[in-house]
Amino acid sequence: MEQTLLATTSTPTIPLTLVRTADFESWSAELPATARSWVTRAQFTGKGGEFAWLPGEDGEPTDLVVGWDGKDDLATLGGLPFKIPEGIYEPTSAVSDLQLLGWSLGAYQFARYKESDRAPAQLLVSPANDLEAVANIESATTLVRDLINIPAGDMLPSNLADEAAQVADANGAECHITVGDDLLIHNYGAIHAVGRAARDAPRLIDITWGNATDPLVVLVGKGVCFDSGGLDIKNAAGMRTMKKDMGGAAHALGLAQLIMAQKLPVRLRVLIAAVENAIAGNAYRPGDILQTYKGISVEIDNTDAEGRLVMCDCLALAAEQKPQLIVDFATLTGSARSAVGTEIAAMFCNDDAVAADIAESGVRWDDPVWRLPLHEPYGYLLKSKIADTVNSAGTPYAGAITAALFLQKFVDDVPWVHFDIMAFNTRDRPGRPEGAEAMAMRAVFDYLSRRFGG
Ligand code: BES
Ligand code: ZN
Ligand code: ZN
Repeated sequence: MEQTLLATTSTPTIPLTLVRTADFESWSAELPATARSWVTRAQFTGKGGEFAWLPGEDGEPTDLVVGWDGKDDLATLGGLPFKIPEGIYEPTSAVSDLQLLGWSLGAYQFARYKESDRAPAQLLVSPANDLEAVANIESATTLVRDLINIPAGDMLPSNLADEAAQVADANGAECHITVGDDLLIHNYGAIHAVGRAARDAPRLIDITWGNATDPLVVLVGKGVCFDSGGLDIKNAAGMRTMKKDMGGAAHALGLAQLIMAQKLPVRLRVLIAAVENAIAGNAYRPGDILQTYKGISVEIDNTDAEGRLVMCDCLALAAEQKPQLIVDFATLTGSARSAVGTEIAAMFCNDDAVAADIAESGVRWDDPVWRLPLHEPYGYLLKSKIADTVNSAGTPYAGAITAALFLQKFVDDVPWVHFDIMAFNTRDRPGRPEGAEAMAMRAVFDYLSRRFGG
């Protein structure tokens, strides 16, 4: 695919000028009369999201002006690549890295199953920008989006494992995969139970990268390639979008790729449980009791609360090594969506300072996260009479919190951040096209760079 951000070009470019909303009146007052009437006719007032063409000497449109509300965000340029004609545009004044990123993220198309109508417009980037960093964030985001957008029929646990192995390979990382009944040999009882009814066997993907002497960071991802709900089957509407239930795994891989591409001085481990929550005669059942890797026994209240089960074996394994930080991503609960909606990542964290810093990084990178509490008194909702815990609380209240409290049982006191994410844009926004989306990935990357960066 052609690049959307160019460092150089030999082709003539189209000037692109940002006009601040606040400066609109004075800016338009300076325009020649013809240009001003073009601006009026386009109903351009300098607001964010607006754009207009100005005529050149021959009366043809030659200059693009774009309204800007003054914010440093994805939206400033993110809506343009498919709204303006193909061509190479050149900003007439400085553009921030985040604005560039907006352009490139807005140029995303998922064209694997349907030919696209047109190519996105391209942008010429000044040497003052960190094009390499922007391009690395863009390719990590594209990886996340593609993995999620690809339907479950083509993104089963074995496919996800192949993708993970490729990411590892391309970056000189080790990748080890434990498949099917071998999971039982190593006591990954929860991953096995959730995934065993599927034709494509469950597996644990384990990637390691970096110097053994650098601080250890472990990323964990929920890789439920399709969530039918299991025997507690979902209804049609609930099941319709469940190809995205490996979104957490996609995030862990995307973030790992970004960390490796940017050569962050950390020792990285990525743990992904790749399973399909399917229905067959050998499916795990409500009432079953699972033996997890950590030795905690779990009574199954609901087979649709499968994400926390596959995650718990990964988290216990991660915590064993006492890393500096565990970060997990999961499309874990509908409840998190009720709490913060589809466009904010719900964050849980057992360390206030880490949570505050990540929230700050999220603001900086236009990647909204909002912290929800690990409210310990709700722990009673997970009590089982016959096992150490149940997998889901019998009440719909505080569903994201009780899910997070379940996970917390498996990380001991290791510093840990958990993101309960939508991983999907339900509407088109500039820089955020409808469909799969990376959420909280930039926030975490910025946090890790500030904390561990050289
Ligand atoms: N994958 C779903 C959660 C989900 C649903 C995420 C919709 C994003 C959008 C998860 O496995 C699930 O089914 N959770 C249940 C848990 C319940 C049975 C305790 C939920 O949230 O309803
Ligand atoms: Zn489920
Ligand atoms: Zn699920």
